Amino acid sequence: MPKATVEAPSNIAFIKYWGAKDLDEAIPAGPSLSMTLQRCASRTTAVFHEGEDGPDEVLVAHNTDDLAPAGDAFRRPIVRHLRRLCKWAGRHGRFQIATRNSFPSSAGLASSASGFAALTLAVLRAFGVAPDRATQSVLARQSGSGSAARSVMGGYVAWPEGDRHAARQVAPHDHWDLRDVIALVETAPKKVASRDGHRRANTSPFFEKRLSLLPERMQQAAAAIETREFEALGEVIETDGVELHLITMSSVPPIFYWMPATLAVLEAVRELRAEGVPAYSTMDAGANVHVICEPHHEEQVARRLSRVDGVLEVIRDRVGPGPRTDVEPLL
Ligand code: PMV
Repeated sequence: MPKATVEAPSNIAFIKYWGAKDLDEAIPAGPSLSMTLQRCASRTTAVFHEGEDGPDEVLVAHNTDDLAPAGDAFRRPIVRHLRRLCKWAGRHGRFQIATRNSFPSSAGLASSASGFAALTLAVLRAFGVAPDRATQSVLARQSGSGSAARSVMGGYVAWPEGDRHAARQVAPHDHWDLRDVIALVETAPKKVASRDGHRRANTSPFFEKRLSLLPERMQQAAAAIETREFEALGEVIETDGVELHLITMSSVPPIFYWMPATLAVLEAVRELRAEGVPAYSTMDAGANVHVICEPHHEEQVARRLSRVDGVLEVIRDRVGPGPRTDVEPLL
């Protein structure tokens, strides 16, 4: 029975995807740019029962080694994506899927990027096909999780490009070793799913303005990565991270993802900079703060963040090379 296992990493956006032209296929309204992570990853095993009818089986390990059948809300988008991949490949059959995150799934960290990248790549391997990276990216985005389009590649990744809206690697991971020190201030699932946030984005009076600023910001970020100018990159990261929340807070109805501890961490990051430690913050659609820094400042940043009131845990990650297949299967 064809079976394949892939571990795909999460990514942190330096320039955020927020708002879509087509939400089901995740065709973004604007460009984005991210750093692929290394430790925060999803491992997925796909077993393909070719020619068999019947329901797909989806097993998930939530913070434990034990796999259990996934609930409906978790299972539905996975099954939808499996059917889409079968159609794309012209194959017929049912799947057994098992998936597990390397980070606590209750940690409030985005897992849809790593999850749908891992699922897409595992299914392609189980089919025995190896399309190019751009096609892998397109197929991952068609899951509806746009950020998954970036997680099929390592290093620094821009998205979208061309008529197919695929992602493209801007620089490999070994071009520049950057760290992501994540301050967890919230572990509950977010109150408004990013899908609803994307849908509401264009109700903000500032949304069009943001879109008009993004092309230049993308260029600035790509140039700073190319020349490894950390401060220049950091300023773009912090501006764009706040701007995502400016859009959410001014959407109709508004969405407030930040918590008091989020602001306390942002303050700590500004203090670090005042003390001469270059570190820059960014937040996804949630209250947790990712602090980007260079390796020689990681220890100091992690120590400071762990002392901030309201920080529950500090997770240290770094830029990584992308998906792996040399991992133990879950089934
Ligand atoms: O891929 P989605 O639909 O979960 O949206 C991701 C949105 C952000 O994480 C907030 C930004 C991004 O570009 O990753």
